[in-house]
Amino acid sequence: MVHLNVNKVRKDFPMLATATPQGKSLAYLDNAASTQKPRAVLEAIEGLYTGYYSNVGRGSYWPATRASQAFEYARERLAGFIHAASAKEVVFTAGATDGINKVMQSFLRPKLQPGDNVVISEQEHHANLIPWQQACRAVGAELRVVRLLSTGDLDQEHYDSLLDDRTALVALTAVSNTLGVVNPVKEMVTAAHQHGIRVLIDAAQHVGHSPTDVQAWDADFVVFSGHKMYGPTGIGVLYGKAELLRETPPMAFGGGAIRDVGFQETLFADIPHKHEPGTPNLEGAVGLAAAIEYLQGLGMRQIHEHTEHLTQYAVMRIEGQEGASILGNPKLRAPVVSFTVEGAHPHDIAGFLAEEGIAIRAGHHCTQPLMDQLGVPGTARVSFGMYNVKEEIDLLMDVLKEVHAFFA
Ligand code: ALA
Repeated sequence: MVHLNVNKVRKDFPMLATATPQGKSLAYLDNAASTQKPRAVLEAIEGLYTGYYSNVGRGSYWPATRASQAFEYARERLAGFIHAASAKEVVFTAGATDGINKVMQSFLRPKLQPGDNVVISEQEHHANLIPWQQACRAVGAELRVVRLLSTGDLDQEHYDSLLDDRTALVALTAVSNTLGVVNPVKEMVTAAHQHGIRVLIDAAQHVGHSPTDVQAWDADFVVFSGHKMYGPTGIGVLYGKAELLRETPPMAFGGGAIRDVGFQETLFADIPHKHEPGTPNLEGAVGLAAAIEYLQGLGMRQIHEHTEHLTQYAVMRIEGQEGASILGNPKLRAPVVSFTVEGAHPHDIAGFLAEEGIAIRAGHHCTQPLMDQLGVPGTARVSFGMYNVKEEIDLLMDVLKEVHAFFA
């Protein structure tokens, strides 16, 4: 396999050449929060606004026809990228959070009864927790939470024990944004399906880093965000199996999602347009398609291999640092490492690093209940993208050494 040419990749990302106000070059190690954008994405967006901009799906003039084609082309690219059976199964959303809320409101709420349950896990991001929590509270259903093993992996026996004939939905993350655990999605979906339970997968931390095959997972719904996969902010995808998207009532109402409207009733369009009322985020879709082309041009396997090596190196170095402890030791790890340094608050660690131009995230990472389970107020988290290099980890370690010396 040809390896990723990281030096060449770095030149494609204008942000990486910027300096901090203190004049330090940027070492961007916060890719789980959001990724930087390659020039190809920026050029695609500029190309839209300068070359063929108009609303989509409404005009028969040029450039409306060209803009509409670009929007549907983006959908096709997305479908191919995640191996959906059809582009009809790709609904554009504002992001993963939006997709989860839509499934909660339109798919789950109408059928959720008192005494039913929804199964999530202790790893879930607030976005894949609060919507289900609120739905359960509203109807008197139970939110069941899969425990973690000491490694951070999900306890599969506990998971199996939580599934029953009152489980209305399972909603799980593919990758923990805090601990970096990669979950056995296919196996967990199969276990739920054995009880006839539908499964939503939060793939926000997966899609930009590893090849994703929604049909191999056999997941019923999959959500993710464009901005975590080198695409624009404000765009995301809700993948749903065609029959489920068809049986689910429109996730919002408005123009462009209809076949026929009278004052007393409406005949809605077929999927996916039925779920996409209003003027869509064309800029986001075009930019996201460009991001996918860029990722596919480099090769998802190559990207995965590169970030995997970086992650192994970072784990080895942080483990070797006196006073530092990594949270979780999962069987499979995504390019995310959470750690603490004895005596130092995570925000102090992030502050020391920021002084040197090293960007990391500190805090609860939108996983407050997980922090409570782990018994820490927060962690410092590094997360890698395709453009990161070993030298940035060496720089990180130089500063962590100082942090330890200062707080010890
Ligand atoms: N979900 C994003 C993160 O983990 C914001 O940082």
